[in-house]
Amino acid sequence: MSYKFHVFETPVEVARAIAERIQTEVKIKNKLSLPFNIAISGGNTPRILFNLFVNEFLESIPWHLVRLFWVDERCVPPTHPESNFGMTFESLLKFVSIPDDNIFRMQGELDPQTEAIRYQQLLENELPLENGFPVFDMVLLGMGDDGHTASIFPSDLTLIHSDLAVSVGVHPLTGQKRITLTIPTLNRAKEVLFFITGSSKSEILKQIINDNSEAIQKKLPASYVHSSTGMTEFYVDKTAAQDLQTTK
Ligand code: 6PG
Repeated sequence: MSYKFHVFETPVEVARAIAERIQTEVKIKNKLSLPFNIAISGGNTPRILFNLFVNEFLESIPWHLVRLFWVDERCVPPTHPESNFGMTFESLLKFVSIPDDNIFRMQGELDPQTEAIRYQQLLENELPLENGFPVFDMVLLGMGDDGHTASIFPSDLTLIHSDLAVSVGVHPLTGQKRITLTIPTLNRAKEVLFFITGSSKSEILKQIINDNSEAIQKKLPASYVHSSTGMTEFYVDKTAAQDLQTTK
């Protein structure tokens, strides 16, 4: 289990590094005449990346080769202000030419359990499998200041050691249900990237990285994310990394 850090001055510089990484990976798959299967997170941080995609990478990434999935989705309609798909549509999908057939939306408007089953079956049909779990080329994760990632919250650890690839999480404060990939699915991705910015994340990031065993004792979900390929990467800005000792 190892972590690799990419630390930048500002959130935009972090986003640009991620965008360049994705551009590189899409082109590598393109050379193999293969699509690039990526699952993205919601929340606010990805907006920085999506805006950069639109402003600086519209022409340089072969978007028609990107197959877009979600790490998680709030159980609301896609037009709801809290919808991850809705945010992605407004800030990215309206502008880039990803074919509709390559956009695999979690349908937050459906019954959560029904949708979790449907989405798992979709992933099993659309992606290569490893030990029965779908394998993404990349998952792009955020992290909450409580140590949650995807919609796996400290209150719900069944999603960490799940036999399911997709399940239903519950926000501990609002009770909002969410469709979410589980830890085993996240860990099987060929590349696992965290995109984390802001001083509010620095303490929890320190716990995840420097006190990993304590973080696991606290059952912080992000501390259970370890890419099965061995390298989990953190793309962070300096404020998020301010409490880290990244050289051990
Ligand atoms: C979601 C996300 C969630 C997010 C973290 C960080 O649906 O909200 O998938 O896991 O990545 O909460 O959110 P911010 O980027 O807004 O800090």
